[in-house]
Parts: sequence; C-alpha cells; structure tokens
Amino acid sequence: MSKIFKKNMTRREFVKTTSTAVAVTAVSSVIPTFAIGGVAPVKVGVLLPFTGTYAKLGSHILDAMKMRIAQNGDKLGGRPVEYNVIDSEMNVPKSTQRVNKLVKKENADFIVGPVHSGIGINMARMLKGENVTVIVPNAGANTITGELCAPNIFRTSFTSWQTAYPAGPVMLKAGLKKVVLLYWNYAFGKETAAAFQESFVPGGGEIVADMPTPFPKTEFQSFFTKVAALNPDAVFTFYSGGGAIKFMKDYAAAGLQGKIPLWGTFLTEGTAKGAGAAAEGIKSTLHYSTELDNPINVKFKADFKKTTGDDADVFAVQGFDAGSLLIQGLDGVKGDAGAKIELHNAMRNAKIESPRGMFTFSKANHPIQDIYLREVQGGLHKVIGVAAKALEDPALGCKA
Ligand code: BEZ
Repeated sequence: MSKIFKKNMTRREFVKTTSTAVAVTAVSSVIPTFAIGGVAPVKVGVLLPFTGTYAKLGSHILDAMKMRIAQNGDKLGGRPVEYNVIDSEMNVPKSTQRVNKLVKKENADFIVGPVHSGIGINMARMLKGENVTVIVPNAGANTITGELCAPNIFRTSFTSWQTAYPAGPVMLKAGLKKVVLLYWNYAFGKETAAAFQESFVPGGGEIVADMPTPFPKTEFQSFFTKVAALNPDAVFTFYSGGGAIKFMKDYAAAGLQGKIPLWGTFLTEGTAKGAGAAAEGIKSTLHYSTELDNPINVKFKADFKKTTGDDADVFAVQGFDAGSLLIQGLDGVKGDAGAKIELHNAMRNAKIESPRGMFTFSKANHPIQDIYLREVQGGLHKVIGVAAKALEDPALGCKA
C-alpha cells in the first residue's frame, strides 16, 4: 500500500494518516513516500550547545550520533535522515522559541537534546505528551524522567542522582568524613550536591561548607581560599567542559592538589587531557570510562577518533547510544515514525549495546546502568571499582 503525499498536506498530517492506517494493520511496514517518488526522510531536530563552556559536549554528542547512524547506512527504519541542528547557546529563555521552531516549523519527528539541565526541564515541560519523540543525550536533571516522565521522553545519559549518590559511601569508605561542596549554581549542580549529601550525611559524613559558584563563571580563587582555611578531608564538585579545565588548573595553582583530595562526577570527563598534570589523582563516579575493556568500547573509540580526530568521552557515548536508540526504535516500526505507541514500545524495550556496557531502560525511559569509580592516572580514567551495579534512578514523581 503506497501512501500519497497530497498537495497542501503538511508532512505531519501525512504521517498522521499513515500512522492511523498502521495502527489498524499493526505496523504493516509502511514507509512514507512522496508522490514524486522517493522515501520521505525521518526528521531529527537537534538542540545542543556548539558555543560556550559546553561546546565540546554538544559537538561530541552530535558527531557520535551521526557516526552511529552512518554505520547503519545513514538510514533509520529504511528511511534517509534529515538533521536540523540549532545551537542552544545554553540559553534557557531562548530555548522555548528554538524548540517550537524544530517541532512546529520543521515538523521534526524526533528532538535530540539538550546538554544543559535548565533547557532540558523546559523542553520536557513543553513536549511531555506531545506528538514528537524526545531523546535527551545529556541533561541530567532528575525531574526530566521523574515528575516530567512521559512515554515520548527518553534519555540515554544519566541523572544527577545516579552519578552523585554512589560517591557518598565510596568516600566514607576511603575515610573522607569532612567534605566541602563546590558546584555550578544551576539545576544540575544543585541536584548533584543534594544527591551526594543524601548518601554521605546519613552514613556519618559532614558537609563543612556548601559553596555554589555562579554558572558559567570560572573565577574560583576566593572559593579556594576558603577551602584552604577549612582544610576538609576532601572537596566534592560538579563542573564540566571548558570550565572544569580552568577549575582543576586553578585548584592545582592554589596549592590544593595532593593536599585536599578532589572528587566529582564529570569534572575530568573529556577534560583530563586539557588539565594535564592538574587532573592527576582526581577520583570520580560516572557511568563510563574510556578504559573499559569491552570490544564495543574499543571499536567505538577507534571509530570516533577516525571520524572526528578527537578522543571519545562520555558525551560521545551518550550521542552514539541516542543513534542506537533511534535505529532500534525505527526498525521496530519499519520506519513509521508516526506510529508513536509502537515506536515508544520498541524504544523502551531496546537493549543498547553501549561502549559503557549493555543497558536497558527503566519504566521512566531512563538507562539502568553501572556507575564506575575512576581515578585519573597518567591522563587516563582508570577504573578502580564499581561504585554501584545496575543502578536504577528512583524517578521520583514519575507516574509511568
Ligand atoms: C547538565 O546540565 O545536566 C549537565 C551539563 C554538563 C555535564 C553534565 C550535566
């Protein structure tokens, strides 16, 4: 049965009529075609940062997602792919208009993004239950797959809770009982600090100072002066991207490296090379390490290096896995992106063969995954333990 893309019909209307027919025939392998011939592309709208402190995170996510789809013949469910890419500039107020542009003007079937949790929360509020499928390849605010969870919202990354909560018991076991918290003062940083305290304080730990710093500013000197005066057992942090490099270098320059152990989640991810000797010895809890010795990771790192000239990191992994999720979802509906119920079922049941290790999705459409304990040694993230095995985010407030 071929579908005709009628004149004056929007592509969305066309896909809707197609999906109604498909629902009746239980996904009958209808791939939308245009009347002039050719298969209509799957439209993937992308909202990621390509400027500012998170620029590298955005480009790694997009490059790796495209690389994964290229490995699939540049097809999703047999259809070609059209990308529509917007720089989020990490600007939360402008994200409303940008999301609307991708959904309403460009008629995107999928939105992939963002990196920044403030934008992620706004996007989830706007698109929850809408006729577009969202894949969040980074933004880790708990609420995106918590209170705001929805059948059309998926995440291939992490939550603040999933990455920071496991650090509490690990640090206590290492004898670190008095900790100063330093983090960028926006949704994700605040949640990271809260998740760390949730396991650290009841276990007998003490937060001797809670010091949020303005995002995305990188003037840390006055905070380091306070840390030196307090002389805690350790500092626990959230910084990422370009700002994290500056943080580590300034920490070392302030004479604190090696004196007061530095811990975190994302601090050294993709930034250890840039920070050089200043990153040595930093410990972190995260759902990936480049040093994981599995064949998928080995191939992924080599492919990413060849494709981009850059070293892979967790952000590239999350983009790569977003590509795998798109492939499995659209294969499951034979390319019919409009058959939302079947598409979302196929995505929720996907098994992602990730460089981080195979993972599946929770009822909230969020990865159930291992959290590794890592230490920077010789510029590499050595895996020195598993901080939490197959950890599922509690998805508080999710009614799924
Ligand atoms: C976030 O805003 O969710 C985020 C940004 C960079 C790294 C990790 C999390």
